[in-house]
Amino acid sequence: MRKNIVAGNWKMNLDYEQGVSLFSEIVNMVKDEVVGNQEVIVCSPAIHLYSIGKLATGKVSTGAQNIHQAESGAYTGEISAAQVKSVGAEYVILGHSERRAYFGETDALLAEKVNTTLKHGLKPIFCIGETKEEREEGRFFDVIKEQLEKGVFHLSAEEFASVVLAYEPVWAIGTGLTATPEQAQEVHAFIRQSIAAKYSAETAENTTILYGGSCNPKNADELFSQADIDGGLIGGASLKSRDFLDIVKVFN
Ligand code: G3H
Repeated sequence: MRKNIVAGNWKMNLDYEQGVSLFSEIVNMVKDEVVGNQEVIVCSPAIHLYSIGKLATGKVSTGAQNIHQAESGAYTGEISAAQVKSVGAEYVILGHSERRAYFGETDALLAEKVNTTLKHGLKPIFCIGETKEEREEGRFFDVIKEQLEKGVFHLSAEEFASVVLAYEPVWAIGTGLTATPEQAQEVHAFIRQSIAAKYSAETAENTTILYGGSCNPKNADELFSQADIDGGLIGGASLKSRDFLDIVKVFN
């Protein structure tokens, strides 16, 4: 049975003290609220990962927001998968639209990052999603299919089993414009069908597919109750412990 996941993406927010304090609050608040096969993940700025990793519990794990595709070497300012792994993180967000748009990350580069992530025993949270223009032009299924094919469908079924997908329509990120539950479900079902066609019905059934984009305590319930939505990748609302807790509690 696939996992339900609520993952926070803090993006480039919170100084060290604020980050450690928010993570401690989250760990305390969610400890009795994480039920069944649910998992809670916090993807913090890399600089916090060591400290929050020490506070992480079986209920709340940590993840990075990026890694470099190379093993190590002369890449000033970058962070390797081995370094992320060494501070106890379990996940890495890859393919976020902000990295694709502002840092020019291509599908080919992301495929390399996915490989490096898996090689080091980390699990990618691989983001896909269309822009406003692509949605308006009715091209969103094609865009998503291409991102899947180029970013993760080169993996073997065994490797793919470690991948979490996140559908994040770019027009919904940080805008307050959430996809309707129907719009999100339509795409999630399409993603699951694409996985079934590439791998197998069983692999598709076992893959966790998160929704991200202005998800908050008010809309999480309806979104997560859709058949193919297995949780959320939460940006803004993950910076407030109460809101994040309320989203985690949707699965209770
Ligand atoms: O990774 C998270 C997403 O970009 C969603 O961000 O919840 O602030 O819209 P948001």
